[in-house]
Amino acid sequence: MILVIHRHTSPQSGEFLYSFTPPCCLVIISDSSKAKQHCQYVKMEKLKFGNILHKTSELNRLPSTFQGCCTRRERRRPARQPTFEPRHLWQRPNIFQQQSSQPVASTISTRPGLYGSPPLRMASSTRRVPISPQRVDAPLTSSATFLVVSVNTSIPSAIQTVRSALASISDLSKNVAIRDLRAAFACTVGIGAGVWDTLMSGVPKPTELHPFRAVHGAKHTAPSTPGDLLFHIRSERRDLNFEFERQLLDALGDSVSVVDDTVGFRYFDVRDLLGFVDGTANPVGDDVSEAVLVASTPDSSGSGEVASAELGGSYVVVQKYVHDMRAWKSLPAETQEAIIGRTKWDNIELMDAEEGKQASHKTLATVQDADGNEYSILRDNMPFGAPGKGEFGTYFIGYSARLWVVEKMLTRMFIGEPEGMHDRLLDYSKAWTGCAFFVPSQRLLDGLGGD
Ligand code: HEM
Repeated sequence: MILVIHRHTSPQSGEFLYSFTPPCCLVIISDSSKAKQHCQYVKMEKLKFGNILHKTSELNRLPSTFQGCCTRRERRRPARQPTFEPRHLWQRPNIFQQQSSQPVASTISTRPGLYGSPPLRMASSTRRVPISPQRVDAPLTSSATFLVVSVNTSIPSAIQTVRSALASISDLSKNVAIRDLRAAFACTVGIGAGVWDTLMSGVPKPTELHPFRAVHGAKHTAPSTPGDLLFHIRSERRDLNFEFERQLLDALGDSVSVVDDTVGFRYFDVRDLLGFVDGTANPVGDDVSEAVLVASTPDSSGSGEVASAELGGSYVVVQKYVHDMRAWKSLPAETQEAIIGRTKWDNIELMDAEEGKQASHKTLATVQDADGNEYSILRDNMPFGAPGKGEFGTYFIGYSARLWVVEKMLTRMFIGEPEGMHDRLLDYSKAWTGCAFFVPSQRLLDGLGGD
């Protein structure tokens, strides 16, 4: 029997829910009525066990078969990652103060039980206050909706409506996720530079956040297009995504206008519509948080670091690409492979071209700093399209702890490295949109409804 222990903290009540992956066992560490309701759900789902424990220490009351699962995962921190100490952040007087006063269990790996995979954590020490990021690392799913909207700031109540809707995302997610626990439902919310100050009143704008900067190459352009909010809605079921989007747009009402609504699907073995496996070089395991979560920010003098609202958040860039399939298919497979930098059939990475020669997509999308440190981003690209309309596309989405990394990738792709030798993928893929957002921590989002 394979068991994974999860944790979900309800920000309203501060209770801790620990659960094993269904259909094994759910453990709720709380005596609140809400926790008991969750237990009811478990029984309704005909799960085998439903235990209510009042303290973490009572976990040893579990049958011994489960106890081996209650171990803390150690997180390897790369040398360049500074130790994160968020103490100052929690002393802020505003929405951050919704932090629960309960201690965090030290012997249990922390995962949200009801919605599938583990969330990222900022701190591994139990004496530190954890920051719960949004689920940017949610598992690859077979369906996703990418919803970009603009806030109608001319409507007086719009900002307040949007704030309440964003604060209710956790509840909306629960409404939908509970209807199929195996569907791995997740929604992450990104906030654009244009609305950050009004929407997040008082929370300083993340250091690197600014509107997407268009990149003009000699032949191709990455345009910058409108969009204040991004909702990245994912699950194994199109109907769950549809239902969540419906409830979300009901809550947002006329406070927003939809700019783009793209439905993506998983295509065979994680291939894009060009026929290549897409996502192989994504970071995995402990490298994910290093790649995507902001862990510290420099102070204005550049000599130190300050705690900020950015901690536990990520930058995210989206672009909608449409492919010229006729032209792409006319290329021999070897040429396509040289353009991508991997073999098509078995996904083997090809050698980089010599310096000064035409580089492949995977080489141009590899970014290093002056010291030779390589920076990964987390991509969850999805094919989209409609053969009947002749539309074949890739929706690019890249999460990163550093916006400059994605921007440098785009510069290398569109301007070329060396300059003029742009990414040949762009000769067959046109970027139609381009937006940048910041994905704040879950707690920051939940706190938006407070005033
Ligand atoms: C038409 C749009 C795009 C398509 C079809 C596409 C497809 C691919 C494929 C097939 C790979 C190789 C397998 C893999 O490692 O995932 C790859 C790698 C990669 N792509 Fe893209 N991509 C697109 C746009 C972008 C954009 C806009 C960026 C960044 C701004 C990007 C960043 C990367 C990165 C970082 C890698 C991994 C490079 C490495 O091997 O380290 N891609 N892409």
